[in-house]
Amino acid sequence: MLLSIWMSNQTITIGKISINAPAMNAAGPWAATKKQLELIYKSQSAAVVTKSFSLKPNPGNPKPNTYFEKDFSLNSVGLENNGADYFIDAVSNFKKTKPLIASLVGFETNEFKELLSKVNNSNFDLIELNLSCPNVKSEEPLGYSPQAVDDILKITTKLSKKPVSVKLPPYYSRQQINKVGTVLLNHNLNHVVLINTLPIATVVNKGKAAITPNDGIGGLGGRYIKPIGLAHVKIFSEHLKGKLPIVGVGGINTKKDITEYLDLGASAVQIGSAIENQGLKIFTELN
Ligand code: DHB
Repeated sequence: MLLSIWMSNQTITIGKISINAPAMNAAGPWAATKKQLELIYKSQSAAVVTKSFSLKPNPGNPKPNTYFEKDFSLNSVGLENNGADYFIDAVSNFKKTKPLIASLVGFETNEFKELLSKVNNSNFDLIELNLSCPNVKSEEPLGYSPQAVDDILKITTKLSKKPVSVKLPPYYSRQQINKVGTVLLNHNLNHVVLINTLPIATVVNKGKAAITPNDGIGGLGGRYIKPIGLAHVKIFSEHLKGKLPIVGVGGINTKKDITEYLDLGASAVQIGSAIENQGLKIFTELN
């Protein structure tokens, strides 16, 4: 049983990287500054995953753009980030005690090319290509178009000197999952991360929208999306048949949650909203 593997502190291999515990942080607002990345590096998180960053700094959406409750989170940060040079510098002195993962977003192909050439010459060990940010108003997340996924993976896997993983959004049918799954198998990927936040959600707090941007609409995370994350791991796992490792994310708070994800086909997991609620000490409990 998988549970016994991770409780005995064995090495978990995910494609070309190895981790010594099943849970790492998910990309998100808790991984946006040098200080935050340093704290994640020093914590029991199995890896350091940055907030998604772009080539140039991006101011993001007006605040408040995140909202957290015990059972869920809502965000429309709008890709606020300090840009590639900042993140590359932030991890430049980290020793290789755990994998350093760069979550990347690009607005157009040329930007991706420049971004990859910078990251190729950095201390990062792996790229997590974010094809699932829900908060760019005019653009549907790339992950919803199998053709767009194919196009971007062709470019990135060719240009990247680091192993490439891809983070996808939640889908609404098995058929959609199977189409995207087939595309993934045509590329030299390290693993797939499932799932990003559910793109269309809103929360009414004291009579008004809990977040300001996009008329209060943002991505839903936390415990509410665990059943959706689990189903994605299960269906992708059946489709990928062990040819591509899966990292599960969505609503994980406890060891039991981790076991459920591993039993359905994930090799490891990421923790998002629970970091905001419980702090990085959650990794001491989980790992
Ligand atoms: C943002 C939200 C996401 O879910 C994501 O994957 C990347 C960025 C954001 O709003 O900044």
